[in-house]
Amino acid sequence: MTLRRRFSLLGIAALLLAFGAHAQSKFPGEGGVNLDVPYVPTAQGVVNRMLEMAGAGPNDIHYDLGSGDGRIVVTAARDFKVKKGVGVDIDPVRIKEANANAKSAGVTDRVTFLQTDLFKFDFSEASVLTLYLLPDVNLKLRPTILNAMKPGTRVVSHAFTMGDWRPDKQEVVESEALYHWVVPAKVSGGWEWKIGSDNYRVDLSQQYQVVTGTLQGPGGQSQLLNTMLKGEDFRFDASVPRGAAPVVMHFVGKASGNTLTGAIDFAGAQRSQITATRAK
Ligand SMILES: C[S@@+](CC[C@H](N)C(=O)[O-])C[C@H]1O[C@@H](n2cnc3c(N)ncnc32)[C@H](O)[C@@H]1O
Repeated sequence: MTLRRRFSLLGIAALLLAFGAHAQSKFPGEGGVNLDVPYVPTAQGVVNRMLEMAGAGPNDIHYDLGSGDGRIVVTAARDFKVKKGVGVDIDPVRIKEANANAKSAGVTDRVTFLQTDLFKFDFSEASVLTLYLLPDVNLKLRPTILNAMKPGTRVVSHAFTMGDWRPDKQEVVESEALYHWVVPAKVSGGWEWKIGSDNYRVDLSQQYQVVTGTLQGPGGQSQLLNTMLKGEDFRFDASVPRGAAPVVMHFVGKASGNTLTGAIDFAGAQRSQITATRAK
């Protein structure tokens, strides 16, 4: 069994434990470069599931950071038909392998492999981002993912989490943990709108995709219930006084920049389209 085949069976976490390398900050690459993450390829069944979890398809631009032999980028282009794929790896040996694999798969018109340091690279155009890195590397990337990537971008990480940013979904495939996040829109702050002559305002606090808040309306103040933020898609309920008894007000819409657009109804009736703006 070759060393690389043995590594691929072990997985990074087991590899680090086995070699006592968890305290090490750099790992030797094959192309005379130092790596932030050792090379361990993802098994093909796990690659397929990562891309299924991400919902990769023809409208997507897919990036794999630390792309190894390019298998995730090549699979996304060949089998999931993404319109563009980009892999970056600091090790020139990996880039050479990735280009050869793209050629054999007939996808060189849609994929590019770049030899560069993933920390110095702009990946903000991706709509699907895949990672098989390390926990500290994921954490270093997290501010860029949250602040520079478009809301709605899907991120799938093999084996490693993103600190206290909880995944939207997770599963185990072929004994490997996979984590899936959707980059949330930024919704914190006060949002105001009118329905007829009635003024409404919600004040939202946000921790990643978890949103809490209060609604201020003609009948007084109430807590938001059942909030859900997935990319730009946002919904909440609030129990509001209306006539003799409280009713549940539902909002379903989108948060885009400083505008919240969508529909409000009261217990399924009196539906209105609203546009709320973020208070300065
Ligand atoms: C665990 S492997 C993952 C390979 C591939 N994504 C897969 O899942 O099959 C991590 C890869 O990251 C690359 N790498 C490590 N440090 C890097 C850095 N600073 N910039 C770019 N690539 C890096 C390594 O060369 C290696 O190919």
